[in-house]
Amino acid sequence: MCGIVGYIGTQKASSIILEGLKRLEYRGYDSAGIAVQKNGRFDIAKKAGRVEGLIKGTAAQKFSGTTGMGHTRWATHGGVTDANAHPHLSSDGKFALIHNGIIENYESIKRFLLSKGYTFASETDTEVLCNLIAYHYQKEPAVEDASRFLESVRKALRHIEGAYGIAVMCADYPAEIVAARKGSPLILGVGDGEYMLASDVSAIISRTQNVVYLKDGEILHITVRNFSITTLDAADVSPVFDRVSWSIADADLNGHAHFMEKEIFEQPAALENTMRGRFSEDGSTANFGGLNISAVDFRHVDRFHFLACGSAWHACLVAEQLIERFARVPVEVDYASEFRYRNSPLERSALFFTFSQSGETIDTLAALREAKRKGYKVLAVNNVVGSTIARESDGGIYQHVGPEIGVASTKAFTSQLLIGAMLALYIGRMRDLSFSDGVEYVQALKGVPDLVRQVLAQAPHIKEIARRYAKFQDFLFLGRLSLFPVALEGALKLKEISYIHAEGYPAAEMKHGPIALISEQCPSVFFVPSGEMFSKVVSSMQEIKARKGRIIAVATEDCALPAGLADEIIRIPECHEAVLPIVATVPVQLLSYYIAVELQRDVDKPRNLAKSVTVE
Ligand code: G6P
Repeated sequence: MCGIVGYIGTQKASSIILEGLKRLEYRGYDSAGIAVQKNGRFDIAKKAGRVEGLIKGTAAQKFSGTTGMGHTRWATHGGVTDANAHPHLSSDGKFALIHNGIIENYESIKRFLLSKGYTFASETDTEVLCNLIAYHYQKEPAVEDASRFLESVRKALRHIEGAYGIAVMCADYPAEIVAARKGSPLILGVGDGEYMLASDVSAIISRTQNVVYLKDGEILHITVRNFSITTLDAADVSPVFDRVSWSIADADLNGHAHFMEKEIFEQPAALENTMRGRFSEDGSTANFGGLNISAVDFRHVDRFHFLACGSAWHACLVAEQLIERFARVPVEVDYASEFRYRNSPLERSALFFTFSQSGETIDTLAALREAKRKGYKVLAVNNVVGSTIARESDGGIYQHVGPEIGVASTKAFTSQLLIGAMLALYIGRMRDLSFSDGVEYVQALKGVPDLVRQVLAQAPHIKEIARRYAKFQDFLFLGRLSLFPVALEGALKLKEISYIHAEGYPAAEMKHGPIALISEQCPSVFFVPSGEMFSKVVSSMQEIKARKGRIIAVATEDCALPAGLADEIIRIPECHEAVLPIVATVPVQLLSYYIAVELQRDVDKPRNLAKSVTVE
């Protein structure tokens, strides 16, 4: 949600910043802007719309300065207009500021600043902060010159309620940037004679893999020669250097039309990476190196609580089914945003897990903090190494699937399904699951990349179905047990990227309401497994067919569907229950992707969405 990029060095800042903005655009794409230092003032360009528009339609590329910053916006306060795009300038023109987050008390600060004669050109909370910094700068000129800029930012931030990741430039300090974070991520890239600042590593990795992750409440002061980190109370902080393992190739399209397509087809390799080195030597269970909790403590857990948002929440629902089925331990799944305010009664021996691809989703982070405040251990399933959630949790499991850039989650989702299945095995083997069942389970998990490859090979068939079904305005996705959350995910994928209305439902519940939607114009996607649920699902399909509803069946190979019941069939391999949700997800990812492409939607940047939601 909103992307920040900054540069100080010897190169032309604008080209590096615009390149960084393109890489960060998946964080927000309502508007984009850039400011570069120039002889005691700023060269500024900003524009509603995509980064490409900023590059084509403005003089931004011609800016010659070597210190600057840029922003891609996902609107919170104020509409999507050129004026509301960042950077914002203080009314005296001395400060330029970019911001990710929400300033909750901006109205009272704005009233105060208006009374002091400051003026506002936009409707944003960001401009209020910019003018507040200018106010403190003017008010306290007595502060020693070298730190006057830094100190006025620090003073202003002490009055701010809400969440922010900011970068500020001051016209009097031509080669300096001050940045700060509370709730929104910021990373410093330390290059060869240059520094970069960004909301996430994808904007940095083309220039350096050496980074410092800023923590909440910290202020970063960068000059051409060095940088320092202090707290809001001006205490010194020693920087901790990290090395990013992702390479620039991970963040490129590599010949694919969209990142979503690339990431769907990367799934076999991504799943292999998630599993690598995580099985016991005897081949009967999973191992996780970073849980930071002993097997004994783990065995004493009476209930697991899983917290997440979006697709990650669907992954938790699948994990719940598998853990309850194979480990016989109750699991409660909450939307992170609800858990925080629900104040539900919790048992003493509960253990929490958060699931989050980015590790920055503010609702998930807030839920983690709430559980920790209550004295519980919280473990995290994350993809982005070094993310805020990863750092604030007591331990966890990294997904290792590389950067996911398409806004609609694909490889990160199936990797979370895999981790859920591995957790069910790990906990199950501490309790009821026998050695031989464990060995069979491990073999099934190891086979999942190949099963996914088999489904991906059907892409042309699924594309053809998508071409014929792209004209419909409503879809139902129906499944049972662990395939019900997959139905939710299928519906979410379709609506996110194609803007077609879609609902996921447990197949049997369909007759308690959604069946009213059924007509020739509302197709249903059914997940049909062999085994005990087969005949039940077939009955639900017949109820749809009796009302002239079209059916797309995602069915395992052994399902002998009655002739004429399904209008379209996508076959998936027979497989172990633990991996069925992964295998069943892939066809609906492809179906949604090809429908969106058929409708010429902006697949990687669907309207109104952002990859990482860092505001409440
Ligand atoms: C946003 C994204 C979703 C994602 C959700 C949770 O809404 O558009 O694709 O599932 O956030 O993100 P997280 O990074 O916490 O998994």
